[in-house]
Amino acid sequence: MRESKQPFVMVLFGATGDLAKRKLFPALYALYRDGLVHEHFAIVGVGRSEMGQAEFRKMVQDSIAKHSRLSIAEGQAWENFIGRVDYVALDVNNSETYALLRQMVEAREKTMDDTSNRLFYLSLAPELFGTVATNLRLGGLTQNQGWKRLIIEKPFGKDLESARALNEVISQSFREEEVYRIDHYLGKEMVQNIEMLRFTNMLFEPVWNNRYIDNVQITASETLGVEDRASYYEHSGALRDMVQNHMLQMLMMVCMEPPSKFETEAIRDEKVKVLRSLRRYAEDEISQYVVRGQYTTGEMKGQQVLGYRDEANVAPDSDTETFVAAKLYVNNFRWSGVPFFIRTGKRMPKKATEIVVQFKEVPLLNNFTHAGAVGPNLLVIRIHPMEGMTLYLNAKKPGTDDKVVPIAMDFCNNCDIEGGSPEAYERLIHDAVHGDSTFFTRWDEVSLAWKFVDPIRRAWDKGLVPLHDYQAGTWGPKAVNFLLSEDDVNWWYVRDNEAFTLPAQMQDGVFSRR
Ligand code: BG6
Repeated sequence: MRESKQPFVMVLFGATGDLAKRKLFPALYALYRDGLVHEHFAIVGVGRSEMGQAEFRKMVQDSIAKHSRLSIAEGQAWENFIGRVDYVALDVNNSETYALLRQMVEAREKTMDDTSNRLFYLSLAPELFGTVATNLRLGGLTQNQGWKRLIIEKPFGKDLESARALNEVISQSFREEEVYRIDHYLGKEMVQNIEMLRFTNMLFEPVWNNRYIDNVQITASETLGVEDRASYYEHSGALRDMVQNHMLQMLMMVCMEPPSKFETEAIRDEKVKVLRSLRRYAEDEISQYVVRGQYTTGEMKGQQVLGYRDEANVAPDSDTETFVAAKLYVNNFRWSGVPFFIRTGKRMPKKATEIVVQFKEVPLLNNFTHAGAVGPNLLVIRIHPMEGMTLYLNAKKPGTDDKVVPIAMDFCNNCDIEGGSPEAYERLIHDAVHGDSTFFTRWDEVSLAWKFVDPIRRAWDKGLVPLHDYQAGTWGPKAVNFLLSEDDVNWWYVRDNEAFTLPAQMQDGVFSRR
């Protein structure tokens, strides 16, 4: 699946932007430090503002110092890295200005035995994706001898129609197998670990179905509000920002069938089948399955924070959702009847992404006096910021009174890795450089995800579903509870990040069902 290391030039559009500073330069630096890319590589940053080479390199250095999991190497090792970084200011809308970019890329390639492999990374406003893909071709940058690849940040369109139009434009310059659509959740260690966990252990496969699993809960909660991203977020909301991509990707990883081979297309085929089986709701059913909310002012860590409508650049009567919860069904042989509860929101009490697989309960024996104390087995896959998993079981409490207590088998994925495990962007850039698109989204995945999301958006736009308030610092609108109570389910509390503790429902040594 992965090619061996080859020389390449990465052209990074949006090189002075926030993502480049926080994630992309630190990721590139970590790949270089860990020896994971060919010794001949170069990075050409493209931005709008005029900036000298030295100023740009200083900016790159500052962002690595601030955001990298690795400290900056002393002396020659650092010089080797930073000496490969160039900058050019372009008007990306004007194809004629691309000649300068082409010259810079070619000059770098001359120093690399004339090998010409090009990775274009679009970390730009989405409305520029199509234009830049086209202008790269018109500017003569895509007619190189070696490979060419295009990495595109999300969102890929804002609905099915716009995504199709964008795909059409891009396909005139890049073939589908050259397009790497990023969903950074797919680069997270523990999201990738779901596959390994499921397909390398005999333990799980026999019970990974509707006969043994009662429900699955997927949470991606954030403490941050909209920050300075209102101009994007106002048009996206949590549905397009998180559900269409990250939440559905996690669902696919949990639900997919074992692939026929551990190969890119075989894996992606199985993921796509999950989306094909996902029950799509009609507009008039949305209110029964999907809840939306928006945060109002509240307290976070003892500080009063603004409500969404009072944030900078947000319309005072905005009806953009900052929270979505939904009950989903994957109508195939394995999953029919199992509800998947998903929730994601901003300004919630904890930053946590986790998946709880709740198994069915054991049949009760007539004279078993501890029935009330026996809870369901849970497999909790913790994705971020804690990485690991915990299996909750029932066991006998040591002693003579035969008490049943919940116990936990706990695994931490990142506890022993100095500086933490590699960032999602490290893995994803590494894969793109080596031609492995397994953890990128294929066009059919994107289009099916929009087919699921679009009717929800339309129902909301038509006012068919109320927008509920929730106070900042809480777990979302109370209205969510009806989604779960129909199935007699409660959310499992998200565990504290620090030391190992049992979830609140288990803390008295018994399962309590609230
Ligand atoms: C991004 C969204 O894709 O994911 C952001 O645009 C969100 O709104 C972020 O904050 C969450 O990512 P992570 O890795 O911090 O869970």
